[in-house]
Formats: sequence, structure tokens, C-alpha cells
Amino acid sequence: MYVCVCNAISDRQIREVVDRGATSVYDVQCHLPVASCCGRCEDVVREVIETHRVNAQRPASAAA
Ligand code: FES
Repeated sequence: MYVCVCNAISDRQIREVVDRGATSVYDVQCHLPVASCCGRCEDVVREVIETHRVNAQRPASAAA
């Protein structure tokens, strides 16, 4: 699903950047131009980052 409509950036792309070490919206912006136009996606970007980080810390059996 597109998170940033202005720049056609999906939640999958954001999760990939988090997997490579990004921990904040700023970190993600170093790799993708999210929240760089209208800025309306910033809260959703933050949510995708946090949710993915929490899920990545769970054991595989608990994430299902
Ligand atoms: S929707 Fe992301 S900058 Fe506009």
C-alpha cells in the first residue's frame, strides 16, 4: 500500500529501510523522499517504522 502518495512510496519500501537499520522518519528520509512534499504521510510513516521494529523484535512464533 502506498504510504506517501506524493512520492509513490509503499510501506514495503519503508520496512526494507528499517530492516537496514533506520529507526526514525529522519533515517528513512536519508534513503527515501517520504514526507518531503505535503508532509501528510509523516504520522503513518512513523507508525510503519514503529510497528515493524516491534514485530522484528518478537520471536517468529509470536509474530504470526
Ligand atoms: S503524502 Fe508524503 S509528502 Fe505528501
